Amino acid sequence: MRHIFQQGSDPAAPVLVLFHGTGGTEMDLLPLAQAISPASSVLSIRGNVLENGMPRFFRRLAEGIFDEEDLIFRTTELYNFLDQAAVENGFDRRNLVAVGYSNGANIAGSLLFHYPDALRGAILLHPMVPRRGIALPDLTDVPVFIGAGRNDPICSPEETVELEELLSTAGANVHVHWEAGGHQLTRSEVIAAAEWMKDSLQ
Ligand code: MLT
Repeated sequence: MRHIFQQGSDPAAPVLVLFHGTGGTEMDLLPLAQAISPASSVLSIRGNVLENGMPRFFRRLAEGIFDEEDLIFRTTELYNFLDQAAVENGFDRRNLVAVGYSNGANIAGSLLFHYPDALRGAILLHPMVPRRGIALPDLTDVPVFIGAGRNDPICSPEETVELEELLSTAGANVHVHWEAGGHQLTRSEVIAAAEWMKDSLQ
């Protein structure tokens, strides 16, 4: 998968794995990584599905309606890519914290929904429920930060609560940070994510 890797100054700090939103690239969230954990190494990945020329991490049939078969396929592909990237770049595979926005938060959520050991933690910014009707793996004590907007028309507050409940029931330590706005990424949620990261993972 197309990606960039930047070596951080602290080899023990979690490696941030960045997943952009629809139409983004691996460059988009680099400033966020710097704000959230400046000493961390960063692996930033470009989604390898194109929708009208816009990169995404999996196909969708319409806004908010996912192509489940493709989502499963892409989740496995990504899991295997993380294994391979760890070997190639010499980082600890068990020390990955995802930072994803929108479609990127959904693929990171899907990694959590399918594997007990894909991620050490996750920062999901405006995520949806990636799949319903499946048993989640054991996520005991996996720290998860969810950034959500009370007026988000794409990721409704009800869906945020549903996601929080599904992850918590699987054992994850979920913290939801609410913003008053919509689907946009805000500076205050990034600051909140950075504080959460210090408290939960360093
Ligand atoms: C998006 O546009 O990225 C959607 O809101 C989320 C998704 O399709 O995964």
